Amino acid sequence: MKKLFLLLSIFYMIGSFTTHAQTIIKAASPSENEKPQINSPVFFGTRTGKEFFYQLPVSGQRPMNFDVANLPEGLTLDKVTGVISGKLEKDGAYKVSISAQNKKGKAIKSLTFVAGDKLALTPPMGWSSWYSYGRNVKEADILKTAKLMKQYGLEHYGWSILEIDDPWTNQPDEQDPVWSAFKTKTENKVYEYHEGPGNLTDRIGATRDQNGVLLPNKYFKNIAQTVKDIHFLGFKVGIYSSPGPLTCGGVAGSYQHELQDAEFFAKTGFDYLKYDWCSYGIFAKDNSLEELMKPYKLMGTALKNQPRDIIFSLCQYGMGEVWKWGHEADGQLWRTGDDVRDNWKSVYHAFKTLADKSAYVQPGRWNDPDILQLGAVGAESREGNSNHLNHQEQTSLMSMWCLLSAPLLIGANIEQMDVFTLSLLTNNEVIAINQDALGKAASLQHTLDNKIEIWSKDLYGGGFTVGLLNPTDQEQHAEFPFAVIGKNSSYKVRDLWKKKDLGNGLKEISAKIPPHGILLLSLQKKSK
Ligand code: GLA
Repeated sequence: MKKLFLLLSIFYMIGSFTTHAQTIIKAASPSENEKPQINSPVFFGTRTGKEFFYQLPVSGQRPMNFDVANLPEGLTLDKVTGVISGKLEKDGAYKVSISAQNKKGKAIKSLTFVAGDKLALTPPMGWSSWYSYGRNVKEADILKTAKLMKQYGLEHYGWSILEIDDPWTNQPDEQDPVWSAFKTKTENKVYEYHEGPGNLTDRIGATRDQNGVLLPNKYFKNIAQTVKDIHFLGFKVGIYSSPGPLTCGGVAGSYQHELQDAEFFAKTGFDYLKYDWCSYGIFAKDNSLEELMKPYKLMGTALKNQPRDIIFSLCQYGMGEVWKWGHEADGQLWRTGDDVRDNWKSVYHAFKTLADKSAYVQPGRWNDPDILQLGAVGAESREGNSNHLNHQEQTSLMSMWCLLSAPLLIGANIEQMDVFTLSLLTNNEVIAINQDALGKAASLQHTLDNKIEIWSKDLYGGGFTVGLLNPTDQEQHAEFPFAVIGKNSSYKVRDLWKKKDLGNGLKEISAKIPPHGILLLSLQKKSK
């Protein structure tokens, strides 16, 4: 019955394809006409005994049939959708062999499920509502986005989470005592930010029911059903809250209801929580590590005790060098700075912030510079479909996030998808750099005389990847002998954006790099 319904919905979705989407898909992702390519990472982490599901990311022409050999007890595969779900009751590494077949051919790849205490063995990938719907977000937008992401086949490339950002709860009315605490605060020693009261007039109401359960606002009345519908499409769903009583947008957060909210999130079916410091600053005694860690440890433990895997995203803008301790709060990712905006200065600053922090990155521990400013990201600044980054800059941004092993959260409004944005999101060779199993992050290794920066990271199974970034406002000619970063052999070099081999047995490369542009290469030891 469930399958029939699924087939009908897929039919419905294909039937309702707009010409817009079809044209864009054709122009941006030629792999839709190709044989299967399995884009899953090498390892997938789950907590032992916790429910999870995983949509196999496989690009290529549909229809496609999936099979998995050696699937361990506790997990099942839906052969039509390619979703694996269930739980693993014993710690261990379970290696399976995935096969995907379509009219054009068959692909096989192994994947190891690692049951233990680690989640997100590769950086989380998904979409966030913040830059596409901003303060006007509604559950209908989230569902619409999930359907569109499916139409565009984004899950074939690993885009798996839809994160509902601020503001999905209610704002207390002006008389509510919650506001007075902020009025009497005299000295703001610890960072504190919230909007309101009265900034979201259509989202004012009771914040919790008589049992203290968090109440979604009127635009999220059917949140549990929306989560189910999105799961049904093969995507995970993320939610947003604050350790303070108010989120940054000024709606209800989790203060003093942390355990209850963690339970509510798990029961509703959420797979991911972004936990944003915002108004909590008023309750932190000082900037000591203990005070900074306290609210995150509380929520991290509460999430870990839920019956399903929930990824925990710490959002406190890098305070107290969170990259050093975020994992101790059971977080898998942590914001390393302020919000990144769609201008080069902000984006370049985010790269540089991470130039020397690669030591803190490993599978399950990710530095998060912020949501990707790709495509139409103007909602938060109330500018609709705009993006002030040009194509070179957006390509550098995506490349650098991949080099830095940063979580990939699309900022774009998917309703406004264009060929360029889709092509940035569907290059599986570039994404594979981000999802590399070694889980290293690139660091800035060398700067050439003309200011071209050489960022590099090692890859699983040997080889490494290099980004030649041009931060200047002029085109630059880069002469890059690999020996300057200590790589003395001869290499097989591939341009990842062009998916083109540049030579075998190379010891150097020279290239023209546009202003704010990048050349993204993979280098493997020369093949004989
Ligand atoms: C903060 C966060 C953003 C977003 C907004 C929502 O600014 O850093 O990513 O979640 O709050 O209000």
